[in-house]
Amino acid sequence: IQFELIPEERYDDVIHHLRHNFFADEPLNHAVALCRPGEPHAELEEHSLTTLRDGLSQMAVHVKTGQVIGVALNGIQHPGDLAAAQAKLQTMSDMKFRRIFDLLYGVNLDLDLFSQHGVDRIFECRILSVDKRFRGRGLARELLRRSEQTARDAGFKLLKEDATGLFSQRVAESLGLKTVHQVRYSDYTAKDTGEVVFNTPTPHDTLKIMVKILQ
Ligand code: ACO
Repeated sequence: IQFELIPEERYDDVIHHLRHNFFADEPLNHAVALCRPGEPHAELEEHSLTTLRDGLSQMAVHVKTGQVIGVALNGIQHPGDLAAAQAKLQTMSDMKFRRIFDLLYGVNLDLDLFSQHGVDRIFECRILSVDKRFRGRGLARELLRRSEQTARDAGFKLLKEDATGLFSQRVAESLGLKTVHQVRYSDYTAKDTGEVVFNTPTPHDTLKIMVKILQ
């Protein structure tokens, strides 16, 4: 297995990997049944490609087959990005996608990590995904570890991840990221009906906003 920064000619392979391993499987996507394994998802693909174009993403490649078997898609967040993204979200038609990003954008807007840490850009790990056949072998940990190095090399002061499930939280904790805010999915209910919005699969019961200060 080889690790490297993701070049543009691999973007299609990354999307293929995500369709088969992330889009249906990530705990919030799974909770709302966003799509079936292998299916495309226009909004998530745009989100992924925008992130890839920041040029900070890492991939794991299975050398024998040349296949992309894991990715950490990392993007730069600037002040104002969240508010703009939230406004754009209101124009989207996919209500499942909106539900997920309503939670993520809302929590992050409230947190305002920019003023808290006195920074004007944040290195954000937005998507951490490993091929089902290669999970539980430390690939995600290595992808995030290399992402942290990429962030340091590019002079970022803050690394951040919205860890939506237990396994990504374990990975982040093992690399020293700290939880600065958390939401238990069972406490997150719809204003109008009072119903729990995300019935995530066990053992993924909490959203954790996790950060690491890079000195
Ligand atoms: N059961 C129990 N524990 C598990 C399992 C499992 N099925 N899979 C992984 N773990 C544990 C590992 O033991 C390890 O914990 P430890 O260090 O305490 O032993 C930890 O979770 C992660 O280990 P890795 O091997 O580095 O993780 P992996 O390469 O398997 O990838 C990932 C983890 C990316 C979360 C993978 O499960 C995946 O792609 N899931 C679907 C997409 C997803 O949920 N991504 C994260 C969402 S948050 C975000 O993207 C920013």
